[in-house]
Amino acid sequence: MKHLIDIMDLSIEELDEMIDVAKDIIADPEKYAHKCAGKKLATLFFEPSTRTRLSFEAAMYELGGNVLGFSEAQSSSAAKGESVSDTIRTVGCYADIIAMRHPKEGAPIAGTRRSTVPVINAGDGGHNHPTQTLTDLLTISREKGRLDHLTIGLCGDLKFGRTVHSLINAMSRYTGNRFVLISPEELKIPEYLRYETLIKKEQDFVETGDLEGAMPELDILYMTRVQRERFFNEQDYLRLKDSYILTPDKLEYAKEDLSILHPLPRVNEISVAVDDDPRARYFEQVRNGKYIRMALILKLLKEAGTIN
Ligand code: CP
Repeated sequence: MKHLIDIMDLSIEELDEMIDVAKDIIADPEKYAHKCAGKKLATLFFEPSTRTRLSFEAAMYELGGNVLGFSEAQSSSAAKGESVSDTIRTVGCYADIIAMRHPKEGAPIAGTRRSTVPVINAGDGGHNHPTQTLTDLLTISREKGRLDHLTIGLCGDLKFGRTVHSLINAMSRYTGNRFVLISPEELKIPEYLRYETLIKKEQDFVETGDLEGAMPELDILYMTRVQRERFFNEQDYLRLKDSYILTPDKLEYAKEDLSILHPLPRVNEISVAVDDDPRARYFEQVRNGKYIRMALILKLLKEAGTIN
């Protein structure tokens, strides 16, 4: 049974194939409108979400399938103490594929052990968010026409931002990319990521606190929210939350063809005045999330032998 827990579960060939399928869905949605007729996706969200859950649900509807699930742990039997493993095994009796989000790192992988249907990690704590990374890859590919030889600035909470961790892992597999890691000292990327992905694999990267200084060389600027829910105390969050606020004046020395991305939700880190700049691509990124999740559902259901 093929699951998606970590972006590294997919080979480069599989990533490229899914991006191609997503682009084909965008070009000809009618061709895919009945591919999942009679099939069901369960969305099990133990943590809040707008984009991920609703784009999964929209994706399944646009494939002709149906959706069931819950959007908070308190409305499921998790509130009575049921384990993730038992929940997944139970839901596998009702649905053909499961997308789950959980606040605990590793919960989705625990859920896969006894699962009879494919499980997709829709975000586990501060760890991974592989379907956001698929969304980001499709967006970068559509914006830039390639996934290699790009200078990517990642700015904000690089410590707790799970989308950042997955994106660095994914983009480090394509040749010639350079990472500019922009954060306060306390919110730098975790040591394991710096060592295992960047140093050991001889990636081109630099760490800085200076967003404006980095701006002129960037092809992509990936802004992130400071992850309040992962902080151990409120004072640290309040001190760090406004470390970077992207405003139009900060874009003065940016490239004409810069793409500004953000996994969203944003709080304060991109001024709404930036939304009108043609380089602001984060709402297009939101739209891409549905198409790549359609491609993922098709892939996993095909591999499970559930659809042709
Ligand atoms: N990008 C993202 O995961 O958004 P949601 O938390 O709204 O799903």
